Amino acid sequence: MSPLRTLTDLNAADRAAFTAALGHLFEHSPWVAEETWPQRPFRDVAHLHSALCGTMRGATRERQLALIRAHPDLAGRLAQQNKLTAESTREQASAGLNQLTAEELAEFQRLNAAYLGSFGFPFIICARLSNKSAILTVMQTRGGSSPEQEFQTALGEIEKIAQLRLNDLLKT
Ligand code: GUN
Repeated sequence: MSPLRTLTDLNAADRAAFTAALGHLFEHSPWVAEETWPQRPFRDVAHLHSALCGTMRGATRERQLALIRAHPDLAGRLAQQNKLTAESTREQASAGLNQLTAEELAEFQRLNAAYLGSFGFPFIICARLSNKSAILTVMQTRGGSSPEQEFQTALGEIEKIAQLRLNDLLKT
């Protein structure tokens, strides 16, 4: 079957096709799309995005934590080994993270490790709305936030990542 690329297609899709089309919007977490499917039809893209985010926000804390943890580190080991999903590869490249000097790479790895050590989950920022120097600055300031604040900020950034991935899907 051809890919579902319009809201009309998505509204008409069965659960499996809907999940196949939107499963990648939330990193390694197709359950978000699957559990949003019963809310069709969606009036517009904003309605669809808000329903997806509602599923994520309504999930258990454990599932939310697993979703956050499903994200790769920025300029981390998976990125160095070219083992990111297609979306993550693009997102990291758009922030210039595929072209770091050895010093910048070491700084990312130090900050990633410090952040993970403080909060128990990786640092999440919508990379496509940022760039490497801004990300390094934000990593340092957010390191001083409370764990609950960071947990909520991570979910908010995941909503932005999903919005951009959805826009890409529906663009053509
Ligand atoms: N980890 C931190 N930020 C991001 C992002 O924007 N995309 C992905 N895939 N992983 C991240």
